[in-house]
Amino acid sequence: MKPVLWITCKLPDEVVEPLKAWADVRQWPTVEVNMPHDKLVEIIKEAEILWTIMDNQVSRELIESAPNLKLICNLAVGYNNIDVAAAKEFGVAVTNTPGVLTDTTADLAFTLMLTTARRIVEASDELRNGDWTYWGVNQLAGVDIFGAKLGIIGMGRIGEAVAHRAKGFNMDVIYHNRSRKVEAEEQFGFEYRALDDLLSESDFIVVLTPLTPETKGLIGERELALMKNSAVLINVARGGIVQEDALYNALKNNVIWAAGSDVFEKEPIDLNHPLLTLKNFVALPHIGSATLRTRKNMMEMNIQSMISYSKGNPIDHRVI
Ligand code: DGY
Repeated sequence: MKPVLWITCKLPDEVVEPLKAWADVRQWPTVEVNMPHDKLVEIIKEAEILWTIMDNQVSRELIESAPNLKLICNLAVGYNNIDVAAAKEFGVAVTNTPGVLTDTTADLAFTLMLTTARRIVEASDELRNGDWTYWGVNQLAGVDIFGAKLGIIGMGRIGEAVAHRAKGFNMDVIYHNRSRKVEAEEQFGFEYRALDDLLSESDFIVVLTPLTPETKGLIGERELALMKNSAVLINVARGGIVQEDALYNALKNNVIWAAGSDVFEKEPIDLNHPLLTLKNFVALPHIGSATLRTRKNMMEMNIQSMISYSKGNPIDHRVI
């Protein structure tokens, strides 16, 4: 009997069709709306392999209710949407897509830094709204990236890739991480800082740490107050690491200069969210890894995991 493989979003036919050779494939049918949670609750009961995206919250309760579940492949490097402790307890393997999205996400982090610092969205909107009526000396003036000090919180693969891009802009790079990156320090001159020192010294701060119980709410009112009034804060990691209320207040009251975020506590963000009223806030709809090539590579990586499982081999790209 073929294992039941449930895919929780609509993936391209050319990706899904070959899976039918070895799996009983069932798939959520539309791209416009992803699988709602109540449907996930229903289908997880019949899945042996579950192919998830980060919208799917796979809780302990769900894992407990899934008698056949053996493997969850998450189409993301982050896996905070899955209760991995529960998965481990119930003998369910969890896999992700590390490495293949590093450069694409680092490019996006840098794009967001430049966009926020140079007020690109605001400038483009002004032009389109017919507000480009004069040339003013400080009109839409932003802050320089070149030569500035960049503080990276979370120096994993993506953090290092951002740091290397920063060198091309002649930036000084400091970082905070759970463990020291001695090789990167020696080879490239990236310097370690305690979190508070990084916050107060940096001109740009990029958040790249995973969302865990330790990093939830890591950047709040106290941390924002430590930053320079001219600082730019960028989050391309996960919503929930930066406290949104505190960020709103800091931006509104010029505690920091600007912020850009690709991620939110609730995604999609509500259109009446106070942050979206601010000109010094740039919002993107979680597109960190969104290039055609990278998304293809991510899908291929998940498929490798499934195939290794289906052949009874050690499962590739396991988180646990
Ligand atoms: C990831 O892989 O964790 C990204 O956030 C999804 O694009």
